[in-house]
Amino acid sequence: MVVQAQTRWQRARVVELADVADGVRRIVVEPEYPEHAAPGTHIDVETGNGTRRVRSYSVVRSEGRGRRLTLSVQLSPTSRGGSAAMHRLRVGDELTVTGPLQSFPLAVGATRYVLVAGGIGVTALVAMASALRRRGADYELVLVGRSRAVMAYLDDLVAEHGDRVRVHVDDEGTSLAVDDLVAGIAQAPASAATELYMCGPIGLMDAIARSWDEHDLPTTNLRFETFGSSGRHPAEEFLVRLPQLDREITVAPDTSILDALEAAGVDTLSECRKGECGLCLAKVVGATGTIDHRDVFLSESQKEHSNSLCLCVSRAVAAGSGPNQHAVISLHLT
Ligand code: FES
Repeated sequence: MVVQAQTRWQRARVVELADVADGVRRIVVEPEYPEHAAPGTHIDVETGNGTRRVRSYSVVRSEGRGRRLTLSVQLSPTSRGGSAAMHRLRVGDELTVTGPLQSFPLAVGATRYVLVAGGIGVTALVAMASALRRRGADYELVLVGRSRAVMAYLDDLVAEHGDRVRVHVDDEGTSLAVDDLVAGIAQAPASAATELYMCGPIGLMDAIARSWDEHDLPTTNLRFETFGSSGRHPAEEFLVRLPQLDREITVAPDTSILDALEAAGVDTLSECRKGECGLCLAKVVGATGTIDHRDVFLSESQKEHSNSLCLCVSRAVAAGSGPNQHAVISLHLT
C-alpha cells in the first residue's frame, strides 16, 4: 500500500450535483488549495456533525489541475451520517477535505491491464481507464453490477472505451464468472506482465484474489482499492465489550468500530482505515453472532478462525432475528 504524506485539511465548495445512477450522486467540489489528482487518488471528507467522522471518496475526475474534483457517493440504506450527509449537500455548501491522497497508484509499463469494477467501486477506476486510453495501453475494463440502473458511469464508459468494456449484469443473467476471467489472463501469452486493478464488494475481490492465487499469477500484479466494499451481511447495530477497560460501546449500522471507539474516547492505532494495513487489528476474546470481516488484510483462514479483526471495517451480526437481539464482540486492544 502506498499512502502519500497527509495533505492539509482545507475547505472545499460544492459547485455541482447530479444523480448518475439509482442512489449514486456525483458531487463536484472546488478545493481551497487545488492540487492535481492522479488516477487512483482519493480525498478524505469530514462528514460528522461536530464529530470527526472521516470518509474516503475516490476522485473520479480532476479538472484544471485539481481546481474541480468530481466525487461520487452511493447512499447507504443504513446511513445517518456519511453517505446520507453527502447526499444532503446543496450547491454552495462547504466541506472539510484533504487534498488528493494516493493509495492505489497506476503503474507504468505493464504489457496489459485489466480493470475490474464492482458497483460503486467503478469510481476508483474511471480516471485510471482514461489514463490508459490516453497512453495507448492495452487494457480491458470489466464492469460488474446488480442491474444497469445502479451502475454509475456505465454509458459514459462504454462511449469512451468502446469494445474494451465488458459489462456483467446480475439481473440480465450475465454475472461475471471470476474463474473464467482469471483463467483467461493466466493463459494469455503476456500473463506474467498483466496487472489487474480491482475495486468493489469484498466477496468479488476475495474471489478474484483466490482465483489469482490458484492460477499462480504474480501477487504483486494484483492491486486493489477497498472503497465501496460491502460485507457478506447487511450492516446492523452491535455491541463491543472491552474487558480490559470495563466498557461496553454500541456500534451503529452506519459507523465503524474504530469510529465508535474514538467517539467514546478510547485510543486505538489506525492508518488506512479501509481494511488494508492491519494496524488497527484487535484480538477477539469472545463473540456472540457472526463476525463479518470486511478487510483484505487477514487471510481466509484467519477470517474463519476469527481470533482477530480489523476495527476500521469489520462488523458483527446477530445469529438470530428479533428487535432486541444484538451481536456482542469482546475485544482486547493492543
Ligand atoms: S487502519 Fe488499516 S486495516 Fe484498519
